[in-house]
Amino acid sequence: MRAMISRSASTPLEARTLPSRALAGDEMRVRVRAIGVNPVDWKMREGGPLRFMQRLLGPRGPFVVGVDFAGEVVEVGPVAGPFATGTRVVGGTDFSRGQHGSYADEVIVRPDQCAALPAAVTYESAACLPVAAVTAWIALHEHRQLAPGMKVLVLGAAGGVGLAALQLTRRLGGRAVGVCSTRNVALVEQLGATAIDHTRGDALEQARALGPFDLVLHTIGTGVYPLAPCRRLLAPSGLVELVVVQPSDVPSLLFRRSVRTVLGRPTRARLEPLVRALAEGALDPRIEAVFPLADAEAAHIRSRGGKVVGKLLLVPEGASTDLPLDARGPHGP
Ligand SMILES: NC(=O)c1ccc[n+]([C@@H]2O[C@H](COP(=O)([O-])OP(=O)(O)OC[C@H]3O[C@@H](n4cnc5c(N)ncnc54)[C@H](OP(=O)(O)O)[C@@H]3O)[C@@H](O)[C@H]2O)c1
Repeated sequence: MRAMISRSASTPLEARTLPSRALAGDEMRVRVRAIGVNPVDWKMREGGPLRFMQRLLGPRGPFVVGVDFAGEVVEVGPVAGPFATGTRVVGGTDFSRGQHGSYADEVIVRPDQCAALPAAVTYESAACLPVAAVTAWIALHEHRQLAPGMKVLVLGAAGGVGLAALQLTRRLGGRAVGVCSTRNVALVEQLGATAIDHTRGDALEQARALGPFDLVLHTIGTGVYPLAPCRRLLAPSGLVELVVVQPSDVPSLLFRRSVRTVLGRPTRARLEPLVRALAEGALDPRIEAVFPLADAEAAHIRSRGGKVVGKLLLVPEGASTDLPLDARGPHGP
């Protein structure tokens, strides 16, 4: 298989041919058609706790980057699972199960990491879901059990997690307020949310007039939007969900019931409602640019810039896409 590997934080990603291995148990081989890029993909190249865990639990040999993928099951292992050969699926790789990452033309995963795709859902839109939309789903549905009428403040509304959160809030009957910069105000409003422009004064101060909030989904980091004023925006039994955790957040995570964090681990149970939302048009991922897999380094440079609106995708060589391959400028799907 062809895969993009990382040797070190300071050297670019490299294309390598790795040996394919035989399947065991209920494993499936998936021919990858589209790959979602997440900040965690380049953060792991730089080290940190997840890379440490990956070294400990991941497969021996080169470090294949990435989590999100969508593609077609091309082989199933000796123990039959729910997906036959030919099924179109979306999923996330899991290094804690000894798996390589998803920046490759094939992945080996288990059925509980994947959801089937109806014909109407493209590989490209599905590949936007695993880490970003699953993270939003866990915060809104599993941690906060969002009910109709509840209010959600999304800090980082224009990013991959944020745009999914605005749309899922609406689907669950809630009302979203999204914090973004001037260029993204119209987009946030198009998605039915109230926009707060963080370039026009203190965003948390502006949010006070629109609260209190049942959930503050914090995708930016408490160095930018500190925890104490976020907590002051909460309704009784409201929750601040930290998508990005800094060491100074740990005491609050340990001792305050109103502060939680999330690990956006894709599973079938989480992906299925998101695929339904895609199929029904309630979730419309905005794809900023699509890069050939071999240009993954360019995608990481763009993502590191911190200005991506929605998602970046990669497509392996030979995988067809209706979207223009473009490493230059933003465009919609
Ligand atoms: N815990 C987990 O499992 C988990 C899962 C997913 C993501 N994450 C982390 O969560 C963070 C967000 O992920 P993502 O995929 O959504 O990132 P992303 O797509 O790269 O987010 C980029 C967006 O952030 C917005 N932004 C930057 N500074 C902002 C500010 N001060 N206020 C409001 N918005 C701002 C920008 O919009 P504007 O130009 O409009 O400001 C930009 O469009 C990353 O650090 C990622 O590693 C963690």
